Amino acid sequence: MQNIYDNNAFFEEYEKMREKDINANNLIEQPIFYSLLPSLKDKKVLDIGCGTGGFCRTAKNEGASFVMGIDCSKNMLEVAKSYKDDITYLNLPMENLSKLNDKFDVITSSLAFHYVKDFDKLIYDISNLIKPGGELIFSQEHPVATAFIPPKGQKLDNKIDIHGKRYYLLSDYNNLGIRIVTWNVTGVEKYHRNFSDIINTLIRHGFMITNVTESYADSEVIKKEPKYKYQNDRPYFIFISAKKL
Ligand SMILES: C[S@@+](CC[C@H](N)C(=O)[O-])C[C@H]1O[C@@H](n2cnc3c(N)ncnc32)[C@H](O)[C@@H]1O
Repeated sequence: MQNIYDNNAFFEEYEKMREKDINANNLIEQPIFYSLLPSLKDKKVLDIGCGTGGFCRTAKNEGASFVMGIDCSKNMLEVAKSYKDDITYLNLPMENLSKLNDKFDVITSSLAFHYVKDFDKLIYDISNLIKPGGELIFSQEHPVATAFIPPKGQKLDNKIDIHGKRYYLLSDYNNLGIRIVTWNVTGVEKYHRNFSDIINTLIRHGFMITNVTESYADSEVIKKEPKYKYQNDRPYFIFISAKKL
């Protein structure tokens, strides 16, 4: 398992990006993610890949009875813990979720699942941690955004702009597995899964899909950051809500 958020060069760049008002998290991912949440009042909530704890704090403010955030990055958790809230943070990789023996009403994860190699095990472990009727809501990079692999030994850009419209190269959609990309630093490991693999894994482990949303940018967002119009040519993120049967 790679723990890239504890690579200080990566972490510094990531923090700089998140501190800005205009970024894809603030303008695109977070508004959609928050719009999909059920009521958290009196709920036991687990956030996987909680990062600096933004969602955990929201869950607490929304009246959740217990909030736990887990993350593999000490850097991210150090920031989360600095808020000194009544939130339980654990330095635990999601690969080791089976070490927890609690039961939760709501399990969330924002932009972390594409870092895990064994998605089947992750969803199996989550199915054991969630109460029947409990809800899992997660976002991850969209399969059309994770698929591309450049030809060996070549630095091929996967996009081209023509008359203000962006065209993307798509390859290896059904070739599931690791992708090594440059994002803040070189050598960042992510995992590509196609849509059917994601959905069928959830179904296999006793979840009913209740919503799927693909990210989009409306005119307000495009006014704030014109480059997000390309979001409508190819979404960056996918959001899935599922209920444990
Ligand atoms: C893009 S950040 C998102 C953080 C937070 N969810 C948010 O939306 O602000 C991804 C987070 O997932 C965490 N992460 C990546 N791989 C992980 C793993 N295998 N187990 C637990 N956390 C992981 C990273 O350390 C990082 O904090």
